[in-house]
Amino acid sequence: MNRLQGKIALVTGAGHGQGRSHAVRMAEEGADLILVDVGDQPADVSYPMATAAELDETVKLVEAHDRRVHVAHVDVRDREGLTAAVAAGATALGGLDVVSANAGVCFAESWDTADSAVWETTLGINMTGVWNTCLAALPHLVERGGGSIVITSSYAGVRGAPFLAAYTASKHGVVGLMRSLALELAEHAVRVNTVHPTGVSDTFMAGAAPLFPLLEKHPKLGSAYVNALDVQTVEPVDISNAVVFLASDESRYITGLELKVDAGVSL
Ligand SMILES: NC(=O)c1ccc[n+]([C@@H]2O[C@H](COP(=O)([O-])OP(=O)(O)OC[C@H]3O[C@@H](n4cnc5c(N)ncnc54)[C@H](O)[C@@H]3O)[C@@H](O)[C@H]2O)c1
Repeated sequence: MNRLQGKIALVTGAGHGQGRSHAVRMAEEGADLILVDVGDQPADVSYPMATAAELDETVKLVEAHDRRVHVAHVDVRDREGLTAAVAAGATALGGLDVVSANAGVCFAESWDTADSAVWETTLGINMTGVWNTCLAALPHLVERGGGSIVITSSYAGVRGAPFLAAYTASKHGVVGLMRSLALELAEHAVRVNTVHPTGVSDTFMAGAAPLFPLLEKHPKLGSAYVNALDVQTVEPVDISNAVVFLASDESRYITGLELKVDAGVSL
């Protein structure tokens, strides 16, 4: 307990799934929270995103730990809106120390039916959204004299994932972003790392990607999704525990790390 006492943390995609779990775990460890989620269903996303009511539920769970919360409904692709929301949160709570750039989407399709809108949406949210999150947060971390950014990549950020080409490109992309920022921000004592989950239960994403019909047609590719450890999917809290570690001073000299919480799927 109290591993994040006195810290203020931003979580994007905090209305559901892993983002909610990260917010609650950070609150348990003493952090105050700036919570961001999209608020309204984006027209170009074909499966459910968190509603405003779901983000409210995260707020209640955080407040139950006697932590302070600032909430914003904003699409991470909206750099201006996100920058304003993060600035308002940092002003309200008194600064910013930790960032969980977690919001993301995933769509399954094979190369020969690939839709350019899927490419644009996936790269827009998973890569440009993460870049926007870092740019919105970094001035506050630098002003504070240091901090920790944890970007949620995926097992698909360290290996190929068939039928998820756009997703895989985006999740490799944020690893490059992490490496460059880790170098540039080291002089400001800002650490930048990625986490790489395998499939995670209790998320919209796990239920969304129509991967199985594609794998049934191409059974040789199914092994790309088999964990080495005897578990089909991990739980959001398994990823949150890694995020809390990277957010806390326990990892004070860890930067540029790709931390796999993937049950060995990428081996
Ligand atoms: N679920 C998995 O199996 C899995 C595996 C590996 C990595 N990941 C990654 O974990 C992260 C969290 O996803 P999850 O598993 O909790 O899935 P999820 O779909 O349950 O949650 C994603 C959250 O991000 C929010 N979001 C999506 N687009 C947004 C946007 N444009 N602006 C603001 N918020 C937005 C959604 O509303 C939702 O609350 C994602 O980056 C995802 O790529 C998920």
